[in-house]
Amino acid sequence: MDVIAKELTYHYNKGAKFAVLALDNVSISIAEGEFFGVIGHTGSGKSTFIQHLNALIPVESGSLVIGGYDLSIRDKKTKKSLPEVRKKVGMVFQYPEYQLFAETVYDDVAFGVKNFNKSADKSIIDQKVRKAIEIVGLDYDAVKDESPFSLSGGQKRRVAIAGVIAVEPEILVLDEPCAGLDPQGKTALWKLLHEIHSTTAKTVIIVSHDMNDVAEQCTKAAMFDGGKMVAVGTPKELFSDAELIERAGLEVPVTCYLTNKLKGLCEIDSDFKADDFARKTAEKIRNQ
Ligand SMILES: Nc1ncnc2c1ncn2[C@@H]1O[C@H](COP(=O)(O)OP(=O)(O)OP(=O)(O)O)[C@@H](O)[C@H]1O
Ligand SMILES: [Mg+2]
Repeated sequence: MDVIAKELTYHYNKGAKFAVLALDNVSISIAEGEFFGVIGHTGSGKSTFIQHLNALIPVESGSLVIGGYDLSIRDKKTKKSLPEVRKKVGMVFQYPEYQLFAETVYDDVAFGVKNFNKSADKSIIDQKVRKAIEIVGLDYDAVKDESPFSLSGGQKRRVAIAGVIAVEPEILVLDEPCAGLDPQGKTALWKLLHEIHSTTAKTVIIVSHDMNDVAEQCTKAAMFDGGKMVAVGTPKELFSDAELIERAGLEVPVTCYLTNKLKGLCEIDSDFKADDFARKTAEKIRNQ
């Protein structure tokens, strides 16, 4: 399923004195298979954009097509298809661990699955819950009857992600999945998200404030500024224009900063991933 937004515009409190233009004519295509980053400084419209993707925010003007679903058409058929869209586009909010609520890990992870598979047998639900808990790297038998509140912060976040992937969405959207994690926790979560990308979800869309992460993890990214989408491309394309990134209030990745610092001394043409940058720099030094 591709995501195609055309001239998407959205105001909070539309018509009121305090209306806020949160999305301003955003046109963007996210092809199936991408590991896509949504970047921009605070208040730029990232969360507003991604909440359109599973119809949490209705299309105000412009169009939004996800696979075969045109969310901009407001008729009975579209309304009826919203549960299907929400099944296919899984949304993990920022700090999802704060939304855990059930008495056991099993019940928390099963909540969405039961909701979306109302007629499914318990054995099918069990299977989906077990699979999701195992995918996020937890021991099903050890945690299923535990209270989610007895787990560590990182484990809680995994349980919350399991609840979304148990529904087997084709597109997994995560708002700042690594916020508040320590470096080890972050590395482990990126690894998990890539595993999910290569197994269950075809497309992963993440919001991130960390350009190092975007350079390292994403196949493509779109940059928002003041509700507008101001640039889109591969990390290499985006970070080649450091001024553009800084104008939008963001910091370039360290590899990009170093590439620019080295200009005149040695020219490094990397994709701004740390490994590629290190290899290309070593080659240059060896050959000089
Ligand atoms: N519920 C709301 N009511 C009114 N205005 C809102 C609401 N949510 C967001 N906004 C405003 O809409 C704009 C875009 O907000 P949004 O949350 O999409 O930004 P963001 O890029 O996700 O920011 P952050 O990085 O801080 O999460 C901001 O000006 C924000 O203040
Ligand atoms: Mg946000």
